Amino acid sequence: MEEAFGSALLISLGVALTSSVLLALGVTAFFTRRVQRSTAAVAHSASRIAGGNYQSQVPSPGLGAEFDQLATTINDLAQRLGDVETTRRRLLADLAHEMRTPLGSIEAHLEAIEDGIRSLDDQTLEVLHGNTARLQRLAEDITAVARAEEGGLDLRPVPTDTTTLVESATAAAHNAYDAKQVALDVDTRQAGSVMADPDRMAQVLGNLLDNALQHTPPGGRVRVSVRKPDPDWVEITVTDNGEGIDAHHLGHVFERFYRADPARSRVRGGSGIGLTISKALVEAHGGGLSASSPGPGSGAEFTIRLPSTGRSR
Ligand SMILES: Nc1ncnc2c1ncn2[C@@H]1O[C@H](COP(=O)(O)OP(=O)(O)OP(=O)(O)O)[C@@H](O)[C@H]1O
Ligand SMILES: [Mg+2]
Repeated sequence: MEEAFGSALLISLGVALTSSVLLALGVTAFFTRRVQRSTAAVAHSASRIAGGNYQSQVPSPGLGAEFDQLATTINDLAQRLGDVETTRRRLLADLAHEMRTPLGSIEAHLEAIEDGIRSLDDQTLEVLHGNTARLQRLAEDITAVARAEEGGLDLRPVPTDTTTLVESATAAAHNAYDAKQVALDVDTRQAGSVMADPDRMAQVLGNLLDNALQHTPPGGRVRVSVRKPDPDWVEITVTDNGEGIDAHHLGHVFERFYRADPARSRVRGGSGIGLTISKALVEAHGGGLSASSPGPGSGAEFTIRLPSTGRSR
């Protein structure tokens, strides 16, 4: 009996040991293969992203929260890289497009001088200077807009009184308005205090007042007013009764180098970048800049929205 018990114990121990070793091996092999397959898929997508295919998405490995987080982070990274790449391409294309006209004009004039068709008189020099000045301004604008869009601006927001902001901006614009005989009204009855960098906001208001003046004929009227639609926000609106903006153009005026009437703006020398910079500046303050117009001939309205000081959110 003792012998039978001994051998039965031995057999059952042997069977139990063998089956648990086999089971452990099986489970390990299963999980190793699963982790391998999932990480291989992640590595494959990551290397496609590294190769410049930013649309490639890393699939969720299904191995728990940490791995899912890793996949999400890689996808976000790819998205950001894709955005930067798109901006870079657009910037280069815009720049090339904007440089072509002044460079073409300089080239044509130089050739005309070489061929004896033109002499280097005051008129030719004026054209050449005008075009080099335009290229110079373009270089400055492009630096400014790149800095504004990349958020590399050195902003110093301080509690600022909107009445002071509006009054100093309109005071700076007064001479130009008087010269063109466009009336400039100010309504700061609802003024409030905002968190803003006064120099940057002066730049934004200057751009809006300049645009309003450019697009309003003599005898017209521009109005700057401050509103406090709710306790958290203050709005500064620049309204003119000039040319207005076609609905078709309205959605594009904040785009870099966009001009509703390129031929006319080029004569004046506008780059179509003032509103792009202004929008980036206002957004860097945590606010927004929007445009509206009832249509051509009915004027336009630009609204700066800024967080008021001590807002609850
Ligand atoms: N108040 C306005 N009334 C009508 N159109 C406007 C007004 N403000 C802007 N626009 C349109 O929006 C376009 C873009 O304005 P933006 O200030 O960006 O460029 P710009 O004035 O042409 O040149 P820049 O400001 O770079 O010298 C203008 O060319 C114009 O067509
Ligand atoms: Mg402008």
